[in-house]
Amino acid sequence: MQRVLSGIQPSGSLHLGNLVGAIENFVKLQESYEAFYMIADWHALTSKFDKVEELAPANLEVTATFLAAGLDPQRSTLFVQSQVKEHAELHLLFSMITPLSWVERVPTYKEKLQNSAADLGSYGFLGYPILQAADILIYKAAKVPVGEDQLFHLELTREIARRFHFLYNVETFPEPQAVLTKAVRVPGLDGRKMSKTYDNGIYLRDTPDQILHKCTRQMLSDTARVRKTDPGNPEICNVFTFHKLFSSEETLAEVADQCPKAGIGCFDCKKRLAEAITARVEPLRVKIEDHLAHPDHLLDILREGRSRARQTAQATLAEVRQAMKLPAD
Ligand code: TRP
Ligand code: SF4
Repeated sequence: MQRVLSGIQPSGSLHLGNLVGAIENFVKLQESYEAFYMIADWHALTSKFDKVEELAPANLEVTATFLAAGLDPQRSTLFVQSQVKEHAELHLLFSMITPLSWVERVPTYKEKLQNSAADLGSYGFLGYPILQAADILIYKAAKVPVGEDQLFHLELTREIARRFHFLYNVETFPEPQAVLTKAVRVPGLDGRKMSKTYDNGIYLRDTPDQILHKCTRQMLSDTARVRKTDPGNPEICNVFTFHKLFSSEETLAEVADQCPKAGIGCFDCKKRLAEAITARVEPLRVKIEDHLAHPDHLLDILREGRSRARQTAQATLAEVRQAMKLPAD
C-alpha cells in the first residue's frame, strides 16, 4: 500500500477552509492509502516561539477535529511532529545538502517575511521547507494532500530527494506527488481567502448563533445591491460562492433564479446559507467538544500514533545514516 502524509499547523481553531480544503480529503485518502497525519507543532513554532502556551491545547484541538471529521486512528497514524524527533535529525542532515539559494528562492519565504505580523527573521523559518521535506520523505510518502500554496515546498522536497540520491548513489525516497483538493478555495467572510490571519473565518467550533451572526451580519454580498428591490448578481456575490459549497441543489437554483429578479432578499439568502453551514458544522462541533472533554483519550491516540510513526521514521533514518556513512544508531 502506498503511503500518504500530510501535516497541519496547530495554530488555533480550525475553520471551514481547513475542513473542505484539507481534512475531508485526508478522510477520503485513508481508505486507499496507509496514512500518516501530523500535527506540525515545530512548524508552528516558527511563528509562535513567543506564544508556546498555545501549542499543547491546539494539538488537542486538531486531534479532536481529526476524529470528529472521521479520521480513524486504527487506520491512520495521527501524531505530533515534535514527538518524533527523527524528523529533526533528517532535517539537520538535509540542511547539509540543500544549497542556500534553494531555500532563499522559495516564494512564500520572502512574501511571509515581509507581510506576517510575527517576527519570522529566524534561521528556523528559513529552514521551514527543509523540515517539511524531512516530514514527507521520512515516511517515504508517495502522495501529499496539500493546498496550492504548498506546491513549491513539494517541488523542493523532490529536489532534495534527487540531490540525496545523486550524492550518495542510492534510491532511498520515492518522489512525492501533491494531491490537490478539487479546486475549492473557501473564501472568507470578506471574500479574501479564509484565514486565521485575516480573522475572516467560520470556525468548526462556532455555535449555530455565531454562524448565523457571521453570515447575516459580517458576510460580504453583492455591494451594488443596496435595497431589497434592487436586482442582485449572484456570480459576483461572495454569499453565492458559499451557497455553491454548502447548500443543496434546490437552494442554489432558487437563489440563482430569484436574486437577479429581486425575488429574495439578501438577509433571507444569508439566513438560508447559515442553515446550510450549520447543518454541516454543528454535528462536527458537538463531536469536537465531546472529544475535548476527554483529553486522556486524545493523548492515548497521539501516544499510539507516535510509536507507529517512530518505527517507520527510525527505519528510514537507519538507511539514511548508512547512505551518508554515519555510525549506526
Ligand atoms: N506547511 C504546511 C502548511 O502550512 C504544513 C506541513 C508541515 C505539511 N509539514 C508538512 C504539509 C508535510 C504537508 C506535508 O500547510
Ligand atoms: Fe448575494 Fe444572496 Fe443577496 Fe443575491 S440575494 S446578492 S446571492 S446575498
